[in-house]
Amino acid sequence: MSVLIRGGRVITATDHYLGDVYVENGIISQIGTSLDLSADRVIDASGKYVIPGAVDPHTHMEMPFGGTVSCDDFTSGTVSAAFGGTTSLIDFCLQARGQTLPDALATWHEKLDRAKPVIDVGFHLAVTDLKEGGNLEDLARAPELGVTSYKLFMAYKNAIMVDDETLFKVMEVAARSGSQVLVHAENGDAIDVLVKRALAEGHTEPIWHARTRPPETEGEATNRAIQLAHVAGAHLYVVHVSCLEAIEPIARARAAGWQVRGETCTQYLFIDESFLERPNFEGAKYVYTPPPRHKENQERLWSALAGDVLSVVSTDHCPFNWQGQKTLGRDDFSKIPNGGPGIENRLHMLHHFGVRTGRISLNRFVELVSTNPARTFGLHPRKGTIAVGSDADIVVFDPEKRLTLSAHSHHSKIDYNLFEGTEVVGAPEVVLVRGQVIVEGDQLVGKPGDGAFIGRARVGEELHGAVLQAGVGGGRRFH
Ligand code: URP
Ligand code: ZN
Ligand code: ZN
Repeated sequence: MSVLIRGGRVITATDHYLGDVYVENGIISQIGTSLDLSADRVIDASGKYVIPGAVDPHTHMEMPFGGTVSCDDFTSGTVSAAFGGTTSLIDFCLQARGQTLPDALATWHEKLDRAKPVIDVGFHLAVTDLKEGGNLEDLARAPELGVTSYKLFMAYKNAIMVDDETLFKVMEVAARSGSQVLVHAENGDAIDVLVKRALAEGHTEPIWHARTRPPETEGEATNRAIQLAHVAGAHLYVVHVSCLEAIEPIARARAAGWQVRGETCTQYLFIDESFLERPNFEGAKYVYTPPPRHKENQERLWSALAGDVLSVVSTDHCPFNWQGQKTLGRDDFSKIPNGGPGIENRLHMLHHFGVRTGRISLNRFVELVSTNPARTFGLHPRKGTIAVGSDADIVVFDPEKRLTLSAHSHHSKIDYNLFEGTEVVGAPEVVLVRGQVIVEGDQLVGKPGDGAFIGRARVGEELHGAVLQAGVGGGRRFH
């Protein structure tokens, strides 16, 4: 099967040129101008951008949380991702209390087998318990199964939060096994005190979600994780950075040459704390963690993205329906399941409000949503770029297409959209995963199973063909 994408403007993290891209058997085999080649399928990309498929390194499909389960499975979540130009995602495999780590990975593989993806999917391993179920030997072997990143929650006390002993031990294993450490950085103990006090004083509304999680609790935990990772010799990635208090320690560590990276998520660039005060419980739609912050943080996040203090924009797609799920917390903000949707709209929002306004260049846009997450999490150069030998994960992006973002037209199962009614210019038109057209205009032409599990390379290593083949669909369990 061959595909010729003709006459588009090819944009990578570093390049920007008019060219043709030729794909054979799922791999980019030639790039040039006026390629005189026949193909099974020719896509006219004139007037369009040809960019590498986006990589979303932060999603939660079918995740049990707060007494319910996030409402997208790997089929609906990846269909939504594909319509937004995302061709790979990395989901958090969450260890249940008392569960072994191999069983946790097997549980996530079962979810992926049951609801097959249309794009490629990798797993981070989220360790919640090393006392009853988890052990460090199993953790050290996870990279053999293509799982080369460990996640730790420093918040959500009495649920999935870990103590500093667990945090540090996992960091030490990561340093040995060549894995990335991801942290959800908030001081869960302090937040627990603040939440209990607010409830005792009768404060039950969604706005108290933000008032009980002040930015200093994020800043403190971010700095603690950075210092501990440095002692352990681990590579650290701070997820969903929302405020100046967390940006500053990351900036300091990076200036000192420490192996620290950070991401923010689309929602923190656009949604501020006032959304939580929307009447009739609508504020609950914006209960995700860390909470939406005061508006002044948004410009700080944009600057951190432009200046490479933050190197990725992810979505933290963790969808809970407003009706029936968010309403679990109608009388108590602490019972509102934490999380919001967004996997479909990351490129729309960043292109319209980032590229078109001049806040970031087209190259930086590609770097933030595709190249950097691919590099950081062991997918590069198979993913994250347009180059000979890379997977043909390609988005033909129409920079002039007008679209109104809405729950009525998105493809996630969730009943609301964080950016409801926002008008954007610029949207994916054709999306290919390993050379196969998955989305064409507003039509899904791919099917569940066109995507597959993808094993990832260790920190500092590259992912090439043979390694990916070993990872796709293989290595289910520890032996
Ligand atoms: O509120 C959020 N972000 N929910 C998903 C879990 C997490 O903390 O990332
Ligand atoms: Zn988190
Ligand atoms: Zn998350």
